[in-house]
Amino acid sequence: MKDAFGIPQSLLILGGTSEIALATARRLVTRRTRTVWLAGRPSPALDKAAAGLRDIGADVRTVAFDALDAESHEEALGKVFTEGDIDMVLLAFGVLGDQAHDEGDPMAAVRVAQTNYTGAVSAGLVCARALQSQGHGSLVVLSSVAGERARRSNFIYGSSKAGLDAFAQGLGDALHGTGVHVMVVRPGFVRSKMTAGMAEAPMATTPDAVAVAIETGLRRRSETVWVPGALRVVMAGLRHVPRPLFRRLPV
Ligand SMILES: NC(=O)c1ccc[n+]([C@@H]2O[C@H](COP(=O)([O-])OP(=O)(O)OC[C@H]3O[C@@H](n4cnc5c(N)ncnc54)[C@H](OP(=O)(O)O)[C@@H]3O)[C@@H](O)[C@H]2O)c1
Repeated sequence: MKDAFGIPQSLLILGGTSEIALATARRLVTRRTRTVWLAGRPSPALDKAAAGLRDIGADVRTVAFDALDAESHEEALGKVFTEGDIDMVLLAFGVLGDQAHDEGDPMAAVRVAQTNYTGAVSAGLVCARALQSQGHGSLVVLSSVAGERARRSNFIYGSSKAGLDAFAQGLGDALHGTGVHVMVVRPGFVRSKMTAGMAEAPMATTPDAVAVAIETGLRRRSETVWVPGALRVVMAGLRHVPRPLFRRLPV
């Protein structure tokens, strides 16, 4: 169960090698979290992530999970919940894709959409139902500012995050009053392996800063978290910029 401050005792990460997710797990383990499940594609990186969390005292288990294999989600994730209650699920998997390449390779673009959106629809629903059966828990979804408004430079990724964001908001409304809390997290540019080598966007942040914002959001039982928080105001303005002008902005 979560403590009085909303910190979970058990955590399931979908996308077990995500730098943002691992920064969050490290932060929560130094608070109260004891059991961490890392769901991800089996790899040395997943084993290394598990070892790193064990080193700081967590009881860590891994489970094979591929966002693109939606038919396997019920069995793979259902198994985790049969082993004990999960207080928090962090939906952290995602791919950025390569916009310039993917515009000319529709199947590559579809893989971005299927990973970020339809993979999250199926994994999110499986976890939501399990959390609802428990009667408690948080589902924390890593969305993105990229989903707030489609940009010329990354609209394939952005549109997948827009779908994910809308899905998570609706799921949060569906679960309102059940004891299950859904929190949508919208980071801007985060320095992680996903963005390695890219030119930094304004207001760039770090996985540790996202972890702090997630912890604060859990304590407040927030429904939406922007990282950094000032992006909420920036995006409120950008959302209303007329398209002929928006097209010319260097975003
Ligand atoms: N970095 C940013 O600027 C930023 C900003 C806003 C939002 N976000 C979102 O935050 C989340 C975490 O990003 P991050 O920065 O921590 O990136 P990251 O370190 O690259 O992590 C991405 C994760 O997604 C997993 N993944 C990709 N395809 C998968 C699949 N088919 N099945 C299962 N797992 C899969 C990767 O696993 P493998 O090890 O198997 O590849 C990895 O664990 C993503 O959803 C991302 O879109 C990131």
